[in-house]
Amino acid sequence: MRIPLIAGNWKMYKTPDEAEEFCKKFAELYHGTDIRALLLVPFTSIATVKRCTEGTDILVGAQNVYFEKEGAYTGEISAPMLKALAIDYCIVGHSERRGYFGETDDIVNRKAKALLEEGIRPVICVGESLEIREAGGQNTHVSSQIRADFQGIPEEDAVKCVVAYEPIWAIGTGRTATPLQAGEMCSLIREELISMYGEDAADEIIIQYGGSVKPENITDIMDMPEIDGALVGGASLDPVKFMDIINF
Ligand code: 13P
Repeated sequence: MRIPLIAGNWKMYKTPDEAEEFCKKFAELYHGTDIRALLLVPFTSIATVKRCTEGTDILVGAQNVYFEKEGAYTGEISAPMLKALAIDYCIVGHSERRGYFGETDDIVNRKAKALLEEGIRPVICVGESLEIREAGGQNTHVSSQIRADFQGIPEEDAVKCVVAYEPIWAIGTGRTATPLQAGEMCSLIREELISMYGEDAADEIIIQYGGSVKPENITDIMDMPEIDGALVGGASLDPVKFMDIINF
């Protein structure tokens, strides 16, 4: 049985003080739910958010990692360093990283493997651009991302991964994919995972939708059978809005 997972991706927002303010308000509002709540925060706020959520079942994660364990890689953060902060999840392959920082499927795959080696669950992001969607290429594009991003990841690790389907044209644009469009793509992802790992393993993998998720549209999105959660950007910065999404 897949337990729904709703994650907030703060992107490059909030200083540690602002993170603490968020957590205080969020913890006041949070009384535990059947849904898992995850905060994916900037590296600089991980320690603060971990401290502020201690004793709750709110999960905490990072937004990026480097695939080498250590070395002369100025400015990078490794999976063992994240493990030392006792985080649960880490995003890899977000479209902003693919687009602005040249993250390829090969890099995403290596980062996912580095995280799994340390017992951190990767949130692997996939999704097509508007150009690809308008040309009708979304299925081929997303299927090939899944194949490449999971390449060489064995079944026992694959089940620990989360996939986030985030169509680039729906991110930060206010233009949400319709629940049907989102549901269809998440079904396609499940099919691809079934072809790689078989029905039982693929059935365990959490598949989220992301892109302009708000309190107003979360119910319809979560109604789709293959959607097990959401990856929320802008609306996760406000503790009241994010809580409304979790309590949809
Ligand atoms: P928005 O919710 O702001 O559209 O961002 C989605 C996203 O990129 C989450 O990773």
